[in-house]
Amino acid sequence: MTERDFPHPDVVLEPHGPMLVRGATSIEDEEGTVHAVDRPVVALCRCAKSSRLPWCDGTHKVLRRNRS
Ligand code: FES
Repeated sequence: MTERDFPHPDVVLEPHGPMLVRGATSIEDEEGTVHAVDRPVVALCRCAKSSRLPWCDGTHKVLRRNRS
């Protein structure tokens, strides 16, 4: 049995941005709430400032712009 035999999501960390998850069917947040996933790829907020947590809404771009 190889690694490919196990279904698992792919994860990519965007520099200064969200965590992109491909192939997940659900996401569990830090409070234990399970969020159904109905898209092939979802972006999870890593800055904790999104108005749509756990999803990224692009707010990280504004935060980064205001920092410089
Ligand atoms: S990472 Fe995009 S809003 Fe937080």
